[in-house]
Amino acid sequence: MYDVAKVRADFPILSREVNGKPLVYLDNGASAQKPRVVIEAMTRAYEHEYANVHRGLHYLSNLATERYEAVRGIVARFLRAPDPEEIVFTTGTTEGINLVSYAWASPRMQAGDEIVLSVLEHHANIVPWHFLRERQGVVLKWVEPEADGSLDPQKVIDAIGPRTKLVAVTQMSNVTGTLVDVAAICRGARARGVPVLVDGSQGAVHRPVSIPDIGCDFYAITGHKLYGPSGSGAIWIAKARMAEMRPFLGGGDMIREVTRDAVCYNDPPMKFEAGTPGIVQQIGLGVALEYLMALGMENVAAHEARLRDHAMARFRGLNWLNVQGTAPGKGAIFSFTIEGPAHAHDISTVLDKKGIAVRAGTHCAMPLMDHLGVTATCRASFGLYNTTEEVDRLVEALELCRELFA
Ligand code: ALA
Repeated sequence: MYDVAKVRADFPILSREVNGKPLVYLDNGASAQKPRVVIEAMTRAYEHEYANVHRGLHYLSNLATERYEAVRGIVARFLRAPDPEEIVFTTGTTEGINLVSYAWASPRMQAGDEIVLSVLEHHANIVPWHFLRERQGVVLKWVEPEADGSLDPQKVIDAIGPRTKLVAVTQMSNVTGTLVDVAAICRGARARGVPVLVDGSQGAVHRPVSIPDIGCDFYAITGHKLYGPSGSGAIWIAKARMAEMRPFLGGGDMIREVTRDAVCYNDPPMKFEAGTPGIVQQIGLGVALEYLMALGMENVAAHEARLRDHAMARFRGLNWLNVQGTAPGKGAIFSFTIEGPAHAHDISTVLDKKGIAVRAGTHCAMPLMDHLGVTATCRASFGLYNTTEEVDRLVEALELCRELFA
């Protein structure tokens, strides 16, 4: 049985007050809070086990390298990926997708080649492809979501043409919580010989991930949303794709030999990891993922489904609340506006006064906001430590907003 009170006790920040009220943290989509085990592991690493990795022959360097490299295996286990050598450490999804754009996509795309994207994408899975549009004349083909926010996998597959070189799609919208059937998209794309990049920034946080079941070529995650440190992250890249990639950033660690006239690169994955990495951040990520696996991602998903169902039931009683996206099986992420003059920023300010943290704005997803016909929304994004009582506190505060702004 999932004991949310016990889980909450693992997160020191959740016991604080904000504006004189107990904190209700509903901005997990932007960044999640950290369990004590992560904070303590990072402190321990700095206090007792810190040195640079891969470089020293001394005790601390070896120890730090061992701790850091072990995380590759933990990430692989979390994603059920068969080989830790297919894990490239990054600072987060944004870097992971930029790596693929620069190192894999750019050299193999000509003017007129296409990348298929959904309108649900976060800017991290849009702007790196715009670079290729601007610099190389690559064409971005957009697939619209349905009225309930869902994405029809067949429409994505049908958008693949003879010039399509890549499909890049999110597993879960950070705005509507829509869950995308990325496995179906991968099956269709594979049958047409087109690789697929999956943005797992939100998807991996809310349910179990299995790379073999998805069948993609690239899968990016970001540590700070996974209850780990900011500046940590990874991208899983199929070995065959890695072999096709040129290096990304140049510097130490990604080389085997450098002379005045030549450079010989390290083997992947280190070929794509230049310079001193986020050593302690990645160690923290490893601890966060171990924490999630100990809770069981199936249990996390079931808990969050209960929160989603409770929230949807409560929101149905508020006929002045416009919730964006009601697709079946969606995650516990709700973007909304209130009928009347209140701007999303006004609503979030009132909620903040009640100790409730939400995000307001365009959520790094402007094409989706444009599709929805809104300039901004408030977003309540739930995580593994939230409770149905917190849903009720949100509803109570929204009722107050309605009174204030009606
Ligand atoms: N991608 C983050 C969000 O959705 C920052 O808020």
